[in-house]
Amino acid sequence: MKICMVLMAFFSIQITFAHELGQDVSRWSQDQFEIAKTRLMQNVSPKGAIPGSVVASPSKDSPNYYYNWVRDAGLVMLTINRLRTFSTSQEEQDFYLRQLFDYVDVTRIHQSMRTAAGLGEVKFYVNGAPFTGPWGRPQNDGPAIRALTLTKLANYLMEHEGEAYVRSMLYDSKQPTESVIKKDLEYVSHNWKNHDFDLWEEIMGHHFFTRLLQRRALLEGAKLAKRLGDMGAGEWYASQAQALEVALNLHWDENAGFFRATQNRVAGIDYKQGMDSSVIIAIINSADAQDTAFSIKDDRFMSSLYKMKNTFSGIYSINSRFPDMGTAIGRYPEDRYDGYSTGKLGNPWFITTAAFASYYYKLAKALKKDGSIKVTKRNREFLNQALTLTMTGHFLQVNQVLGSNDSIFSLLLEGLIKSGDSYVERIRFHAHSDGSLSEQMNRETGYMQGAEHLTWSYSSFINVYLNRQEALR
Ligand code: NOJ
Ligand code: NOJ
Repeated sequence: MKICMVLMAFFSIQITFAHELGQDVSRWSQDQFEIAKTRLMQNVSPKGAIPGSVVASPSKDSPNYYYNWVRDAGLVMLTINRLRTFSTSQEEQDFYLRQLFDYVDVTRIHQSMRTAAGLGEVKFYVNGAPFTGPWGRPQNDGPAIRALTLTKLANYLMEHEGEAYVRSMLYDSKQPTESVIKKDLEYVSHNWKNHDFDLWEEIMGHHFFTRLLQRRALLEGAKLAKRLGDMGAGEWYASQAQALEVALNLHWDENAGFFRATQNRVAGIDYKQGMDSSVIIAIINSADAQDTAFSIKDDRFMSSLYKMKNTFSGIYSINSRFPDMGTAIGRYPEDRYDGYSTGKLGNPWFITTAAFASYYYKLAKALKKDGSIKVTKRNREFLNQALTLTMTGHFLQVNQVLGSNDSIFSLLLEGLIKSGDSYVERIRFHAHSDGSLSEQMNRETGYMQGAEHLTWSYSSFINVYLNRQEALR
C-alpha cells in the first residue's frame, strides 16, 4: 500500500513535470518562432543584393557564407511560402508573396548566367554572378528544390487570378523554355542519372537526399505541366519520377537498418560509412500525404532515425553530459568539418537536430490522421523509445496493430510529441539566450560555432514550430 502511494506520487510528479515541460516548450518555441522569422528575413534581400537573393549567413569571413546557395535559398523560400499559407494576416501574406515574386526574378537572372555547371551551379554572389572558384559542382538538388518551391507558388497563383503570370514567368510549356520552373524540370529530368556532389558538398555520386527531392519536384512538376496542357512533358516528368523511385529504393540497407546516403561514389571524401541525417531532412521536406512510396510513416525512416540517434548520442560528449533532452544530431558520424575548416572534428548541427524534431511532429500528425499503426520489425524500437517518454511502461510487439480506440495509441502520439519536444529542448539549450542560431554546437562544450545567424538554421526552426502546431491541432 505504502509503496503504491509512493509510486503514485512519483508518477504524478513525473507527469506534472512532463506537462510543464510541454508548456515550457510551447512558450519558448513561440518566442523563438518570432525571433527566427525576423532573423531569417534579415538574410533575404540584404542591402546591396539583388532582391530575392538569400545569403546563407551574414558572415563574410571565417567562414565566408555571404553567397546565395541555390539549395539554402530554395529551402528558405519553401519556408517563406509555408509562412504565407499559415499567416492569417493579409498584410503578412502579401509580404511573403512579394518575397516569392522577387525570388522568381532573381532565379531568372541565375538561370541565365553562363556557369561551369549549368543549372547545377552551386552558389552566386549577391549581384547575381556565379561563384567561379573551385568547388564541388554540380550539385543537382538545388534546381529540384527551386522547382518544387516555385511549383507551390504556381499552384497558388492558378487559384488566385495569376494564371497569366504562371504561363509567362513560371511555366510556359515551350521547348526550349525561358520560364523558371520548366527550365529546372528539364534540367532535373535529363540530368538526375549523372553523378553530382551531395548537399554537404563533399562527395560525388548518387545521393538519397538529392534523389528524393528530385522525385518530389518531378511529381509536382508533372501535375503542373498537365494542368497547363503540356501533356507530353507531364508524362516525361512522371516517368523520370518513377525511375527515381526505383533508384531510391536501392539506398535501403535492410541489415544496417538505414537508408544509405550515397551510392556509386566516384570522387570526393572516401571515409563515410553511409549513415547520414540528410535522409531525414529529405523526407520532412518532400513528404506528401498521398505518396505511398516514400512517406513519413514509412518504417524505413523510423528505423534510420532510431539508428542515427543511437550513434550520435555515443559520439558527442554533450549528449552524455546533458542527457535530459533530445540527442544533438550531426550530419554524419565521420564528419570532419567544424564550421571553419576540414580535418577537424565535426559537431552537431541545428538543422539536423531540428529535422529530427520535425520528423516526430510530422509523424504524430500523420498517425493521428490515419488512426492506426502496425508495429513492424523495423519500427518497433523507434516506437518503443517514443513510448518510454510517457512513462507508462508499455512495450509494443511486432505485428501488433494499434487503432485509435487503443489507449496505447494515444500514448504513442503523446510520446511522439514529447520526443519532438525533447529536440526542441536541445536546440534551446545550445541556442544563444537571444535566440541566435549559428550552424553548429561544439560537441564538447555545447557552445555555438560555424557561420553565425545561419539562414537555414532559422528556417529549420520555423518548420519545427509549424510542424508542432500542426501536430497539436
Ligand atoms: C564547405 C562546405 O560547405 C562543407 O559542407 C564542407 O564540409 C566543407 N566545405 C569541406 O568540404
Ligand atoms: C555547408 C553545408 O554543408 C551546405 O549544405 C550548405 O549549403 C552551405 N554550408 C551553406 O549553408
